[in-house]
Amino acid sequence: MKITFIGSGYVGLVSGTLLSFLGADVTCCDNNEEKIQALQDGKLPIYEPGLEGYIKEAVIAGRLRFKTGMTGDADVVFIAVGTPPLELSGEADLSYVYDATLQAAQSYSPDTLIVIKSTVPPGTCLALQSMLHKNGFEHSVASNPEFLREGSAIEDFLNPDRIVIGFSNEEAANILSKVYKSLVDKGFAMLRTDPTTSELIKYASNSFLATKIGFINEMANLCEKVGADIDSLSTGMGLDSRIGSAFLKAGPGFGGSCFPKDLLALSHIARTYDQPCHILDAVIFSNQNRCAHMVSKISEAIGDLRGKTICILGITFKAETDDVRSSPAVDIVQLLLSKGAKVSVYDPEGAENGAREIPAAEFSEGAYASAESSEAIVILTEWDEFKRLDFKRMHGILAKPNIFDFRNILDRDALESLGFNYYRIGG
Ligand code: UGA
Repeated sequence: MKITFIGSGYVGLVSGTLLSFLGADVTCCDNNEEKIQALQDGKLPIYEPGLEGYIKEAVIAGRLRFKTGMTGDADVVFIAVGTPPLELSGEADLSYVYDATLQAAQSYSPDTLIVIKSTVPPGTCLALQSMLHKNGFEHSVASNPEFLREGSAIEDFLNPDRIVIGFSNEEAANILSKVYKSLVDKGFAMLRTDPTTSELIKYASNSFLATKIGFINEMANLCEKVGADIDSLSTGMGLDSRIGSAFLKAGPGFGGSCFPKDLLALSHIARTYDQPCHILDAVIFSNQNRCAHMVSKISEAIGDLRGKTICILGITFKAETDDVRSSPAVDIVQLLLSKGAKVSVYDPEGAENGAREIPAAEFSEGAYASAESSEAIVILTEWDEFKRLDFKRMHGILAKPNIFDFRNILDRDALESLGFNYYRIGG
């Protein structure tokens, strides 16, 4: 089966590579020449554990290639371009999806199925289909949202909880069933539905997961007031199989290129249909206030931040990625700087992207260098290496022994016995 991906960002690159691993002949296209050149030279534009090996293997086997132009033939063209939020409304900007779909129709035969992998509002596939027909093209447009997470993208793609396909005709369903045959044969679920429902499943799933996090973060605030412990609370709730333990870890707020953007977009969609989702709006509001709450926890404990040096461990929006898009850590650093603090950051993978976002912060090569003469360590990303730091050594390096563990990854008793003032989330 011949597959082309238009858009070789996170979703396009991972999905394209892994479909080639599953046996398809894949071409990943992108109009960013620099990115394609880098990929052709064997360099990855993103950090994703394990991906490099899969790309190398597929390229050597001749099942994967990278191109700037859309040429050749294909059974399926996946559109995996960005849908960034428009500044004022939060509405998804669909211009890249429209351009790519029209270009695909112009470049490939009418038998080629066009599949939208980008996250798009309900009704987009049908609107694209009629846009093509108005322009004289006969291609079918189907929906197949992606559910992989950064940092565990390979595992998520190869062991999906479900594959969702939305289509308007059986021929489209048959082609998509062939694309995913090897996964369905292994027993992974495939939900077949209409395109509009398929599109909404993606937004609703991300919004529901973000709601779980927003809820547990507010419970963490309450735990601090009533003297309860958020980690035990999460465990106690998660053991109820109707609730489930996933996405119940309290932290400095959810970030990344998906949750914040998709919540805003779904909220906008709901208002457009005069059917506001009050729960979504509350989750957005709650998460937007989270960073200020984290900073006030620091200043309540150590006083006026002016002139104080704070060591930040972790700038990415979560561990196992170099992505700092909508990272709560970036917002927290910016807030600390605006309050007059000096900030020294260490992140194992995110330093380059982080430094671009926050030029006023200093980035160090290692955690100990970053902690030198700081008045507090603030942990904002749950990187494993932070759990293994030598805190006895840290105690000697810091100007004041304060640790704010906003991912609740360290052992309170161990740190307190070393003489640290240890602060965490939720009691
Ligand atoms: C998310 C979804 O989980 C994927 O299913 C989806 O495909 C993807 O968006 C997308 O739409 O492309 P991702 O943004 O990679 O994936 O990251 P998550 O692992 O979902 O984490 C999002 C944010 O929530 C992070 O800031 C993370 O630290 C935070 N989080 C997550 C918590 O604070 N607590 C949790 O229990 C889980």
